[in-house]
Amino acid sequence: MIETIRGQNLLSLNDLSKDAIIEILNEAESFVEVNERAIKKVPALKGRVVASLFFEESTRTRLSFETAAKRLSADVLSLAVASSSVKKGESLRDTIATVDALGIDAVVLRHASSGAAEQVSRYVPHVRVVNAGDGQHQHPTQGLLDAFTIRQTLAERRGLDPIASGATLFEGLKVLIVGDIRHSRVARSDIAAYTTLGAEVRVAGPPTLLPQSVAQWGATLAPNFEEALRWADVVGLLRLQRERGTESFVPTLNEYTTTFGLTQERASLLKPGALIMHPGPMNRGVEVDSKVADGPQAIIRRQVSNGVPVRMAVLYLSIAGLGRAK
Ligand code: CP
Repeated sequence: MIETIRGQNLLSLNDLSKDAIIEILNEAESFVEVNERAIKKVPALKGRVVASLFFEESTRTRLSFETAAKRLSADVLSLAVASSSVKKGESLRDTIATVDALGIDAVVLRHASSGAAEQVSRYVPHVRVVNAGDGQHQHPTQGLLDAFTIRQTLAERRGLDPIASGATLFEGLKVLIVGDIRHSRVARSDIAAYTTLGAEVRVAGPPTLLPQSVAQWGATLAPNFEEALRWADVVGLLRLQRERGTESFVPTLNEYTTTFGLTQERASLLKPGALIMHPGPMNRGVEVDSKVADGPQAIIRRQVSNGVPVRMAVLYLSIAGLGRAK
């Protein structure tokens, strides 16, 4: 069990303790204020170099990691993989060695292969590695920013200080995650974060998109979707991942929407205070109705905004205080 990510890699949320997660959420709270300033910059990582290596498509994660690094005054090396020597066949190992030779302190890595971030951490043990999504395995900063967003929203509603509340707002919290659980690194990281903090997590989706081992993840199967919607305090929707062939696991997209889409009719079953979340990008009209996604219960834009302070916290804790990389 990892008790802090100070000076450490962040590869997965599975082995992070409750204290380690709370430390990150609290650190992120301190960076919210920085992001509200006219000059959104602090010198915390001045002189440090962060390599941003996205071997798979991304909008939110890449932009928010690079924004986070710049707001901490780090220099950012951003590799445009599509126009890099990766396209000439250079291996992941040689690509990392090349970037490392330029003098870096940290790598933010997104890759289609599960385990790629851990592999890179072995190639460059003197560099901190932050997993920005590896295959179906983990998306730890998404899990952290989702937990941060829930705590922030519930604390605001109840007039509480989120830092002083620690993990108490998660105790007894009922979270329903809906959709392609089987292929989802977000589901794996969200379930790890929420259950470690004390929430109860149920999952729902077509049987073909549910893992056999959901109990091993700490979640249970919701026997009835509509009942589960009435039960939930938080509903996390997942994208049907066309790039991972998810469409072949459901008869048609229309049938998915009919059975598991959060339509306006189904959203009316939710408790008035229930929160609707989605990591993005959304397939509007497939897993969520567009009006529901933009409605008052949805906190999807807040999730995106919180990507910056949460990733600032992760980079800061992971890198600050390290010796020089070289
Ligand atoms: N949620 C998420 O990882 O989005 P991106 O793929 O746009 O980074």
